[in-house]
Amino acid sequence: MTASDSLTATRAAYDAAADTYARLFHDSLRDAPLDRAMLAAFAEAVRGEGGGAEVADLGCGPGHVTAHLASLDLVVRGVDASPAMIGLARADHPELRFDVGSMAALDLPDATLSGVLSRWSVIHTPPNELPAVLDEFARVLAPGGHLLVGFWASESPDHRTQLFDHAVAPAYRWCPDHLSALLRERGLTETARMIREPLPTDRRPFREVHLLARKTPVDDA
Ligand SMILES: C[S@@+](CC[C@H](N)C(=O)[O-])C[C@H]1O[C@@H](n2cnc3c(N)ncnc32)[C@H](O)[C@@H]1O
Repeated sequence: MTASDSLTATRAAYDAAADTYARLFHDSLRDAPLDRAMLAAFAEAVRGEGGGAEVADLGCGPGHVTAHLASLDLVVRGVDASPAMIGLARADHPELRFDVGSMAALDLPDATLSGVLSRWSVIHTPPNELPAVLDEFARVLAPGGHLLVGFWASESPDHRTQLFDHAVAPAYRWCPDHLSALLRERGLTETARMIREPLPTDRRPFREVHLLARKTPVDDA
């Protein structure tokens, strides 16, 4: 499968599932205090850089998390491969900007964002395409900017990635240390990670990872 094949398949799958996904997850942060805590820490870190500059929620889905970031006083826009998802996001949050786009080829200038959020969107990136996506995160972030990535952990140290059954599109779990190392190679240094054990109510018995990283500030470069 080429990069464009996998993106086309992911886009089509989320176009078909957009209404169901939005209905199931629009309120999902309500019962996720640790997710909210990491989003709050991310927002505070971004605001601590002086604020003003923009944050992008990449793979934003129906925009509920984008709107949550806006409620934390961030200037935020959402980007998603699925036009149906972007349509729902625009309808639900007309005050925010949402664009159709690919994480592997962002229509954003270099070094302009103070924050990038990728929450359960890199899970659909095949391992051979992940470097291009991480390159884009590093390219669009300004020096000192912050990245928050959410994903499920692969469980074996022998497995950097594990393909798993996902209701919408093929998806991968990542080894947190491996992802952290890939980020470090791109000048994005891990600053914190939160790993939550699965709850009995979770759809999947996987550990959830939120990994925060920061692009090397100019002073330290
Ligand atoms: C599991 S949903 C997560 C949505 C939202 N971030 C959340 O936290 O609920 C994954 C989303 O990522 C988008 N996505 C996956 N791969 C993408 C890519 N390469 N570029 C842009 N969006 C992508 C999908 O279209 C889908 O809306």
